[in-house]
Amino acid sequence: MVQLDQGKPFLRKWGSSFFNNNNPLVLELACGKGEYTVNLAQLFPDKNFIGIDYKGNRIWRGAKTATEEGINNVGFLRIQIETLLEYFGPGEVDEIWITFPDPQPQISREKKRLTSQRFLDMYKVILKPGGKVNLKTDNDGLHAYTVEKITELGLNKHIQTEDLYHSEYANEVLSIKTYYERKYLQHNKNINYVQFSFD
Ligand SMILES: C[S@@+](CC[C@H](N)C(=O)[O-])C[C@H]1O[C@@H](n2cnc3c(N)ncnc32)[C@H](O)[C@@H]1O
Repeated sequence: MVQLDQGKPFLRKWGSSFFNNNNPLVLELACGKGEYTVNLAQLFPDKNFIGIDYKGNRIWRGAKTATEEGINNVGFLRIQIETLLEYFGPGEVDEIWITFPDPQPQISREKKRLTSQRFLDMYKVILKPGGKVNLKTDNDGLHAYTVEKITELGLNKHIQTEDLYHSEYANEVLSIKTYYERKYLQHNKNINYVQFSFD
């Protein structure tokens, strides 16, 4: 089940009108080719997954795989993540994955980091109480910045590792690899992971 560009009619009713069930809803932000979305959907058929990216040619890849393999708990949405609140209502989302986002290291571009204050404010609105945010990144600076934000805002940090694949956390879910992650691993880059919630 795949939908591009036409998300707004589903605001607050992804379950009832798009997936036709009330299963938990999980988002992957900056999903690129949607590897996490597709792989998680296969691992968890009782949850619904939506991959979000503004590059149509990238999400086309994930959408094609989902269609060809008949995975019906997957959707893709081609939007700017900045507009999330136009597509998802308060408490509509159970979990968020952010996979290898552009790190935006320049101070002047801090607002564009997907774990900056304005994005965290949006995630807090759309997540259910206790809903978790997962960030996987090769970028040590973005990881450190996110961990600092979590501390500064007094959020609940559940897991933090600077070297996922040499940690105790490298389970089946966290070992799903995206297109970008594979490139970084070829250069032996350590992979950072942090999981947190707002309450
Ligand atoms: C480095 S790529 C990572 C893609 C994928 N997660 C992976 O690991 O292979 C970052 C992705 O974020 C998307 N992106 C960046 N800023 C965005 C925004 N504001 N809204 C939607 N997508 C965005 C880009 O189009 C790109 O596909």
